[in-house]
Amino acid sequence: MSINSIEYLLFLHQSGVSTFLQEKPNNFYSEESKKLVINRNNVSNKIDEVTSLEQLENYIKLSTNCSLKNNANKTVFADGNPKSKIMFIGEAPGADEDRVGKPFVGLAGQLLNKMIAAINLSRDDIYITNIVPWRPPNNRTPNTEEILQCLPFIQKHIDIIKPMIIILLGGTASKAILATTHGITKIRGKWHQYNSLQINRPIPTRAIYHPAYLLRSPENKRTTWEDLKEVKKMIQKIKNEKS
Ligand code: URA
Repeated sequence: MSINSIEYLLFLHQSGVSTFLQEKPNNFYSEESKKLVINRNNVSNKIDEVTSLEQLENYIKLSTNCSLKNNANKTVFADGNPKSKIMFIGEAPGADEDRVGKPFVGLAGQLLNKMIAAINLSRDDIYITNIVPWRPPNNRTPNTEEILQCLPFIQKHIDIIKPMIIILLGGTASKAILATTHGITKIRGKWHQYNSLQINRPIPTRAIYHPAYLLRSPENKRTTWEDLKEVKKMIQKIKNEKS
């Protein structure tokens, strides 16, 4: 009789054994919470009370409302220049980002660097984050529930940065931020506005193809270049209006 068999369990039961002890206690605290470095002195438990990037990062690291966190190694918060008013928003961290803890450090990130260099920008000129801060298992697209659970994070992120222009990378970011069900092919190619009660002006927002998609479908690079030229023009217009 094998010790993994039903017969063995029945044998134990008939012998009066009703309780089993495990070799190790259950670990009810996820590995993630042990890995994260959190400044607990600077954490609000209400997102309405969050007013700085540091508070937001801590708030997200402590939040428990999205199951994506359970499988991720790192909370991927943001990269680039927090003083920049040019905000890029992607979809979700991939394997490289989950390892390093920064958005767009893998192959898609390398292409993104080339795309922004083509309009005379570097990572130091822009601020970049994602719709969800945790890598979905197997790099799948975050589902509607996960996006909705993380939406308050990105909305607060925008309210803190107060960008003059937003560039949405791919369909997931575009649908979530512009609250539309249209696909990226329909959304791209024109200007949209993002409105927040916390920012007293509409923010010009442009959706472009995601660099990971462009790596798979390079034939769409040409239209993306047209979009990038529009982005460049808008940045120049904003600068002219300010000076
Ligand atoms: N793709 C994204 O949308 N975000 C990243 O951070 C990396 C790849």
